[in-house]
Amino acid sequence: MNPNNEKQRAALEAVKEIQNGMIVGLGTGSTAYYAIQATGELVKQGLQIQAVPTSEHTREMAASLQIPLVDINTIDHIDLTIDGADEFTPKLELIKGGGGALLREKIVASMTRRFIVITDSSKKVDKLGKFKVPIEVIPFSYNYVLRKLQKLGGQGIVRKKEDQPYQTDQGNYIIDADFGLIEDPTTLEKQINTIVGVVEHGLFLNLASRVIMAQGDDIVVFEK
Ligand code: A5P
Repeated sequence: MNPNNEKQRAALEAVKEIQNGMIVGLGTGSTAYYAIQATGELVKQGLQIQAVPTSEHTREMAASLQIPLVDINTIDHIDLTIDGADEFTPKLELIKGGGGALLREKIVASMTRRFIVITDSSKKVDKLGKFKVPIEVIPFSYNYVLRKLQKLGGQGIVRKKEDQPYQTDQGNYIIDADFGLIEDPTTLEKQINTIVGVVEHGLFLNLASRVIMAQGDDIVVFEK
């Protein structure tokens, strides 16, 4: 099956969980796109929600669909977030940030009571690490962080866009770091967190409540 069809099927399954009155986190990326689109349809049909976008791109899309937005600094929690992932394991460990929105995505996920991840069948792995770990860094210290990552066994490169460093919504850079297959994501997470200049990274552990993966015509659900 075309991966886009799987993405859409997973998204349509996830939006069934949205209820009137909820504050909903809207993810970023080609899979989240389908969930935002479907949410827009539900709003058009009368669903009443407030939404928090995880990127400027998503904010624009939500606004164009007339999904009401709320300032994240005026709320103390988010009821439900639907977002994609670059990799996930059946233990609900994730790598995110391929689209560069990992910082706002992680803040939104951290404030969320029920974080639903939607994917096509290509994203499931037994161990994280085939996808390089995106690490958001302040531009001032990217070379220092690259050297520190190397000491942890990670080969990093600064993500580029049209020959220039890619810049996030916060004006930061992203280092994509190859650690090989990650045997112990929890330890790696702690190690990366200690590097000065790292703003956030794409290891999302203990955040997802459920992964909805579409595989051909089937929906496969992973839960804790
Ligand atoms: C955006 O920064 C990412 O975390 C995306 O959620 C992730 O890269 C998955 O994107 P796709 O749905 O486009 O594969």
